[in-house]
Amino acid sequence: MNQNVEFYNHLADFYDQIHGDRSLEIAFYQEQASNAQSILEVPVGSGVLAQALCRQDRRVVGVDLSEEMLVKARSLTKEAEFVKGDMCAFDLNETFDLVLCPLNSFMHLCTEDQALAALTCFKEHCSANGKVIVSIDQVALEYMPKKFEGIRAQFKDKTSDSNITVLEKTKFDRKTNIMNVQWSAFDDETRDLKATSSYDNRFYSNLEIRKYLEKVGLRVIADYGDYEKNERTNISSRQILISECA
Ligand SMILES: C[S@@+](CC[C@H](N)C(=O)[O-])C[C@H]1O[C@@H](n2cnc3c(N)ncnc32)[C@H](O)[C@@H]1O
Repeated sequence: MNQNVEFYNHLADFYDQIHGDRSLEIAFYQEQASNAQSILEVPVGSGVLAQALCRQDRRVVGVDLSEEMLVKARSLTKEAEFVKGDMCAFDLNETFDLVLCPLNSFMHLCTEDQALAALTCFKEHCSANGKVIVSIDQVALEYMPKKFEGIRAQFKDKTSDSNITVLEKTKFDRKTNIMNVQWSAFDDETRDLKATSSYDNRFYSNLEIRKYLEKVGLRVIADYGDYEKNERTNISSRQILISECA
C-alpha cells in the first residue's frame, strides 16, 4: 500500500477538522467552475470541495486511492460520483471542463515519473476547451528547517465530542526536497493516542512545475499566489497554476 494513502486511511476521521476553514479556497474554485458543466477532482479526499462544486446542471466526479476517504466522500454527498483510482494511472474514459488537483495533493507525487504520469492523466481527462488547475505550496526551501515539531491543530472532535490536539513532526531532506510529515492525534483529557501516521510531500519550484506541465502539453494561462487571485510573486505562499491544452 502507498504510504501516503495509508496515512489518509488512518486519519480520515480527523481530516476535515485538521484543515479547518476552507471558505476562501472553496470560493476560488466555485468562481473558476462557474461555466463548467463537468468537473473532475483528483484526488478528491473527503469530498468537501466536490460537494461545494455540485450543481443540478453539472456532473462532478472525484477520484481517490484511499478507501476511507472515499467512504467519507460518499457519505457527505450523493450528488457527486466517487471512484477509486491512482492519480498517476486512471482512465475514466470521459473528459471534463475542469480538472482540479487541489490542496497540495500534487506534492504527494515524489518522483518526476509520478508527476508526469499524473499530469498526463489530468490532460487526457480535460476537454478541448477545458482547464486543469494544480495548487501547491510555494516555500523558500533554503530556509526550510531540517526538523520541526509543533501543534498542527486543536479542535473538538465532532463524533467523540472530545478535545483533540494534533502534533506534527517534520523531517526535510534537502537533496530530494521531500518532507516527511508525521501527525499524531491525542485526546487532551486522557492523553490517549487516537491516530498516528506519516506521509511524504515533495516541494516543487515554479520552474519545475511549469516544465512538467509544458512537457505533457498543458499551457499555463494563469499563475496565482493565493486564493484571492493575487499574481504569484517569489514571496507568495502558494502557486495555483491554471492551464489549458496546448
Ligand atoms: C490533501 S488530500 C486532498 C483531497 C482533496 N482534493 C481536498 O481538497 O480536500 C490528498 C488526498 O490524496 C489521496 N492520494 C494520495 N496519493 C494518491 C494517489 N497516488 N492516487 C490517488 N489518491 C491519492 C489521499 O488518499 C488523500 O485523500
